[in-house]
Amino acid sequence: MNSLHDVIERNLGLMIVLIVLVVSVGGLVEIVPLFYQKSTTQPVAGLKPYTPLQLEGRDIYIREGCYNCHSQMIRPFRAETERYGHYSVAGEFVYDHPFQWGSKRTGPDLARVGGRYSDEWHRVHLRNPRDVVPESDMPDYDDLHKNVLDGNDIQAKMRAMRTLGVPYTDADIANAKQDVAGKTEEDALIAYLQDLGTDLKNTR
Ligand code: HEC
Repeated sequence: MNSLHDVIERNLGLMIVLIVLVVSVGGLVEIVPLFYQKSTTQPVAGLKPYTPLQLEGRDIYIREGCYNCHSQMIRPFRAETERYGHYSVAGEFVYDHPFQWGSKRTGPDLARVGGRYSDEWHRVHLRNPRDVVPESDMPDYDDLHKNVLDGNDIQAKMRAMRTLGVPYTDADIANAKQDVAGKTEEDALIAYLQDLGTDLKNTR
């Protein structure tokens, strides 16, 4: 029997081409419209770029691998919204390069942790999580408050962010160093954590 089916099944090259075609049509139909949809490309109302100190804190978050245990992505399920707050929307992450959605939740989601605790709570928690959450198995980050930032890189980092579309002004960049220099890595990380998810929260 020499049906079309037969031809395709016996011809691996042809089969591969056809599979790629089918999969990419499915993918493109789902993905490409998102590139042009306002809800995914425009910042939510009131979204502010990170301050220089928060931006440094974000780099420390990445350096320390916090994303290995914490996601920043609240899914639109009741169990999540009751625990963490409003589900995450794409427009909240327009200035995040790269975004920190993550995929692993050894600890809780942090997408809306901003404002949930005091700065002081975070200090104690980062230095030794067991002091505030006795059953915690989060590692301690007791060195961050000993490392003082000099702010030498911050302007270059902000310029890099600007090429990616973050609306920093020349004045923002010119004044950045004084926001950072002399602060500790712990200060920066806490400033970042306290900002997470607050822009949407404050405008709704
Ligand atoms: C090995 C996994 C692990 C890593 C790495 C980790 N955490 Fe955690 N984190 C946890 C766990 C588990 C909890 C829940 C217990 C607690 O509150 O300590 C937690 C809780 C938290 C909380 C409190 C969240 C809430 O809503 O109560 C914050 C804030 C936090 N982590 C920040 C960080 C930061 C910042 C880093 C990186 C410097 C980090 N974590 C790295 C496991 C981790």
